[in-house]
Amino acid sequence: GGRKMIVGGNWKCNLDQAKAAALVEQLNGMEVGNCEVVVAPVFLHIPMVMNTLKKDKALVSAQNCSFTGMGAYTGDISAEHLVDMGIQWVILGHSERRQYFKEDDEMLAKKLEYALSKGLKVIYCIGEQKEQRENGTTMDVCKKQLEGVAKMLNPETVVIAYEPVWAIGTGLVATPEQAQDTQKSIREYIASAASPDVAAKIRIQYGGSVNGKNCAELAALEDIDGFLVGGASLKPEFTDIVKACS
Ligand code: G3H
Repeated sequence: GGRKMIVGGNWKCNLDQAKAAALVEQLNGMEVGNCEVVVAPVFLHIPMVMNTLKKDKALVSAQNCSFTGMGAYTGDISAEHLVDMGIQWVILGHSERRQYFKEDDEMLAKKLEYALSKGLKVIYCIGEQKEQRENGTTMDVCKKQLEGVAKMLNPETVVIAYEPVWAIGTGLVATPEQAQDTQKSIREYIASAASPDVAAKIRIQYGGSVNGKNCAELAALEDIDGFLVGGASLKPEFTDIVKACS
């Protein structure tokens, strides 16, 4: 539907400085064509990556930020800090943040609102767990995750990442049918909860065991507007995934 593809490389809590620098060197050689690319290193590596990664190849994203501004919040990093560093993107609501750091929909709605208010662009992650897929409640879960943020969904500044939790880091990529059907339903829900115009324009990435081999078939699907890539974003095949979206 005329939406520009966007691929995110979520490096998660990986890579030492030398390996991150080597990865940047690879990225500087990739062909991006018409694909928008963002990569999300650990916070500590962001300045190094911003100084070395060519901006016509990819922009840098944070993997998280605070629900509030600067202040007495030990260990946190605020949207203001990201903006001050020249960072334009942040990933919010990744299933690992939801699961291991107990971030719930209410907290994530605050984070999204705050990040957008400071001018950041956001990759907002949703997705069901294995039992939920199996008992047929996938869309109930996705709707609940989107309900409180539907009014904030602006296609210029928000990208949705649909990541079935059972597909993350497992090698069990969703079938093209599962990914397309779910993302179509998510878009239909956004049409009713936000507006048909927002639904038509907002980009929805698929995430979960995307690799250099399975990306082309998924990228061809109507409601898949790119990928959020974990494991394969640390490897040379990331450039193949970007190429499949260019
Ligand atoms: O943010 C990325 C996703 O969690 C996907 O991770 O590609 O390693 O399955 P994965």
